[in-house]
Amino acid sequence: MKVVKTVQEFRDQRKNLSNPLGFVPTMGFLHEGHLSLVRAAHRECRSVAVSIFVNPTQFGPNEDFEAYPRDMDADLEKLEGEQVDIVLTPDKDDLYPAGFQTWVEVESLTQPLEGIVRPGHFRGVTTVVAKFFNIVQPDRAYFGQKDAQQAAVLRRMAADLNFPLEVITCPTLREPDGLAMSSRNTYLNPEQRKAAAVLYRSLNEARLAFEKGEKNANSLRQLVKNIIAGEPLARLDYVSCADLVTLQELDKIERQALLSMAVFIGKTRLIDNVILG
Ligand code: PAF
Repeated sequence: MKVVKTVQEFRDQRKNLSNPLGFVPTMGFLHEGHLSLVRAAHRECRSVAVSIFVNPTQFGPNEDFEAYPRDMDADLEKLEGEQVDIVLTPDKDDLYPAGFQTWVEVESLTQPLEGIVRPGHFRGVTTVVAKFFNIVQPDRAYFGQKDAQQAAVLRRMAADLNFPLEVITCPTLREPDGLAMSSRNTYLNPEQRKAAAVLYRSLNEARLAFEKGEKNANSLRQLVKNIIAGEPLARLDYVSCADLVTLQELDKIERQALLSMAVFIGKTRLIDNVILG
């Protein structure tokens, strides 16, 4: 496994990577969820590249950029175990040189849900991922369904900017109690960690209700709210039942819908979602 630290070094190596090349962009502190993306890339591609970069431009001023967990040695060991061909670990000045002022912005898909509470977040994500697409030139790029809006936004960006690649979304990996795997789960103390299972429990209850015939989006949102309210350590940030493609809120579920949420457990903000239909 090659580890390269600069964009130039990656470019020098690109011709040695067999096509199709699968790419998994990450912010490190890798868990099984990330590794499942790497495995999917391996199944579908002849070589696999991973980037590790905690992207400052996608964090708001009061968010956890400084505190975001990092462990480069452990990450590289895990990727070596997955037989990744190349890992790019650029530093901030390489990706955002002095005088940087060019941004990639997807319009309406970034407005609802996470866009309301995290202004500027998706602009940071789309800008850095567009840069990685230019540098890595992958044939397929892999993202997790846990960040459903991010995946939708990046698919839109790739289509709109004619990137010659496929954006692939892989299923969310969960702990045995249903909690979606996330690097931010490490912020939770044992009591909070237990309480965090309420996210998936509430989504799952709503999905069961949907499957039994409840098509009223508000009833499903309310069901989720009630379950979250029953967990004293949890505070609901939002619950949404939206069209899977446009992310616009629904009254009645007639096509596939995305039931998604953000919940604070203590100071840690967790997101999760399920697809209905
Ligand atoms: O999902 C993430 O970890 C990040 O948003 C990404 C896609 C690596 C961009 O920094």
